[in-house]
Amino acid sequence: MSADLRDQFSRPLRDLRISVTDRCNFRCPYCMPKEVFGADHSFLKQNQLVSLPELARIVSAFRQLGVEKVRLTGGEPLLRADLPDFVRVLKQDLGMPEVALTTNGWLLEKQATALKAAGLDRLNVSVDSLDETKAGLMNGLGFSVSRVLRGIDAAAALGLPVKINCVVQHGVNDDELLTLCDYFRERGHALRFIEFMDVGNTNHWTSDQVVPALAIIAQIHQRWPIEAISPAYRGEVAARYRYRDGKGEIGIISSVTEPFCKDCHRARLSADGQLYTCLFAAKGHDILARLRTGISDPELSDYIAGIWRGRHDRYSDERAELIAKKEPRTKVEMSYIGG
Ligand code: GTP
Ligand code: 5AD
Ligand code: SF4
Ligand code: SF4
Repeated sequence: MSADLRDQFSRPLRDLRISVTDRCNFRCPYCMPKEVFGADHSFLKQNQLVSLPELARIVSAFRQLGVEKVRLTGGEPLLRADLPDFVRVLKQDLGMPEVALTTNGWLLEKQATALKAAGLDRLNVSVDSLDETKAGLMNGLGFSVSRVLRGIDAAAALGLPVKINCVVQHGVNDDELLTLCDYFRERGHALRFIEFMDVGNTNHWTSDQVVPALAIIAQIHQRWPIEAISPAYRGEVAARYRYRDGKGEIGIISSVTEPFCKDCHRARLSADGQLYTCLFAAKGHDILARLRTGISDPELSDYIAGIWRGRHDRYSDERAELIAKKEPRTKVEMSYIGG
């Protein structure tokens, strides 16, 4: 059954990204600008969040439909005290082949041991700058990057594979690409540069702030020759390159200049249990409400399968056209849906 589930463009369902909270301890201007996500912002209440038993039921349905990888995101997922329990349930009770985490790393030094013990397979940590002043600007609150780097070291010391995510913004941190490469090459972590995206409705995105993937690659190649390598898995969002001198690899996530919708196998579950079939979707499907009004497990599977079959999202492929036609969309906020 699961092997045959395809959307309108024949894409299977393989990955599930789960946002476990819409809150974050950072206010990166490209994601949660503090003038929008300030004291007046109303975050989800405790009883609106998916609980652990509810999550287990939902993930179990996705597993039957072919999902092989779960990524826990937020907001900032480490703000949820029961995160190691989530991981344990996913790995040990549900037998999910791969459970990964995307975090800003602020709380990682303290929590790495519990996450590893719970069975976490790997994690991606955001580092936009190694310069304390600039890092503080890019997380919106002046937080020190050195604490994030200590968290990364703690996770790596436990044997957890770590990748680094760096959102590149023209005129903000694009003078630092080689410094970042140098630092993470020496430590053996794959560094992925992400083109600044027009997610949500509040980050004041304009196309001239995007540093195109090709320019990033050219700059790195001039300093340390690199060559393209195959994706680690089908539908990987990052294009991978290895350093010819053997010192590891980098990745480029080029959702703007080279979209990857045709291989998009990802479903997203928001912290309040809405299923989204695209990062740029305007609206979700309320799974949690159905759970709370007594849907059975087979009905839940059928409901999700029906949504996937009808899916025809390809926002990044259509972006240029929509912008040219001046047809802006209302989109879900990234912190709510988890990137
Ligand atoms: P791996 O499993 O390590 O390949 O992780 P990942 O790159 O899929 O996940 P991560 O949370 O580290 O995301 C890195 C960047 O890719 C973030 O900026 C995400 O928003 C972006 N991204 C992930 N999935 C998609 C997607 O389906 N569409 C778009 N446009 N961007 C995505
Ligand atoms: N464009 C690109 N990447 C973004 N992220 C958050 N907002 C944006 C944006 N506007 C990244 C974070 C994190 C990942 C989950 O998404 O930096 O690495
Ligand atoms: Fe928080 Fe991540 Fe968004 Fe920054 S990008 S505000 S760390 S959720
Ligand atoms: Fe998938 Fe939507 Fe991203 Fe395209 S824009 S890769 S369909 S999530």
